[in-house]
Amino acid sequence: MKIVLACDHGGFQLKEALKEHLTKSGYDISDIGVYNTDSVDYPDYGKRAAEIVASGECDRGIIICGTGIGISIAANKVKGIRCALCTNEYMSKMSRLHNNSNMLALGERVLGKGIAIDIADAWLSAEFEGGRHELRINKLMEIEKTDKAED
Ligand code: RB5
Repeated sequence: MKIVLACDHGGFQLKEALKEHLTKSGYDISDIGVYNTDSVDYPDYGKRAAEIVASGECDRGIIICGTGIGISIAANKVKGIRCALCTNEYMSKMSRLHNNSNMLALGERVLGKGIAIDIADAWLSAEFEGGRHELRINKLMEIEKTDKAED
């Protein structure tokens, strides 16, 4: 599975820890930055990672900022993206089972490193259940189609 990782300066340390852990676990990681703690704008990185997932270049994306909020909002504005901001394993697992999330957002200033890694592991090992949830995902995609901002 190919995973794109991205963060702003508020998520740099956690992104580095996740990269090491996921690489050791055998995932194919594409790290699109940032590569230090110089201040940047989270929308740029959330959008870039989301476009990589939406295009199919990577299967999934994990994005990190201070809270996870800003970068998840950015990613969710890209068509085809279902980015789940999670603070525990139950949320990340359920975001796969029921919401077929294709991106995970984490907050470095909210989570300890160990918990964040467990959340990511739970997310990566859970599979979408389909069935009645498929219909709901289709309804989400319908909302994207009727987005008046594009008219
Ligand atoms: C950066 O200071 C911080 O605002 C950002 O990392 C994130 O928490 C925004 O949602």
